[in-house]
Amino acid sequence: MKKVIAIALLCTAPFSMTMAEQEEMKRRVAESKEVVKSFMTELGGELRRAMKTGGPVKAIEVCNLIAPSIAKTQSEKHGWEVGRTSLKLRNSNNAPDAWETGVLKKFEERAAAGEAVAQMAHFEVVEQNGVKRFRFMKAIGMPPLDKAPCLKCHGESIDDKVAAKLDELYPNDQARGYKPGMIRGAFTISQPME
Ligand code: HEC
Repeated sequence: MKKVIAIALLCTAPFSMTMAEQEEMKRRVAESKEVVKSFMTELGGELRRAMKTGGPVKAIEVCNLIAPSIAKTQSEKHGWEVGRTSLKLRNSNNAPDAWETGVLKKFEERAAAGEAVAQMAHFEVVEQNGVKRFRFMKAIGMPPLDKAPCLKCHGESIDDKVAAKLDELYPNDQARGYKPGMIRGAFTISQPME
């Protein structure tokens, strides 16, 4: 059943879905994209401010506190689960579940096949313990340094002081060594269907 729904959703006009169901999917996708956008804008703003006033070492602390707090606020506001995840984690609280791991691996395959990361997303109705949930993921790319400061904390050559602070907060950090254009991870949203 899960597979049938998933395949149906991949088509633009699936015959197995009523117009009302198609409209509902469109609405859920649009709402998910809005939430991702506000998450990104808020976190990006905080990050830029922190980098400017305290530099990257101070900004790590901001990221460490602000990112989970934005995820929590957005989750509570919508009654959804909203977060960020990755195949190479910094914070193990962001670990993907089996479905998310599958989607992240598919994103890697899609990128390898030449698809642009910026618009890459996936949604699906997934049945979990007999309950249907609408799940949405949007890929997060690694921009070059002249576009955003991401590489200062996730790149190949990280300043010693920054690396020391990361080691202190995240002894199992795997989220380093990225190059521009790579997929850093994804935003992930899980909505109850009823
Ligand atoms: C000042 C250092 C710093 C900068 C700059 C930075 N990050 Fe991070 N990043 C972190 C920290 C710290 C965490 C862990 C946050 C937490 O505890 O949830 C993190 C976590 C993440 C995660 C969540 C998955 C995981 O590994 O836990 C993603 C995705 C991510 N960063 C992407 C980005 C992107 C994209 C940029 C650029 C827009 C960026 N980061 C810039 C420090 C940084």
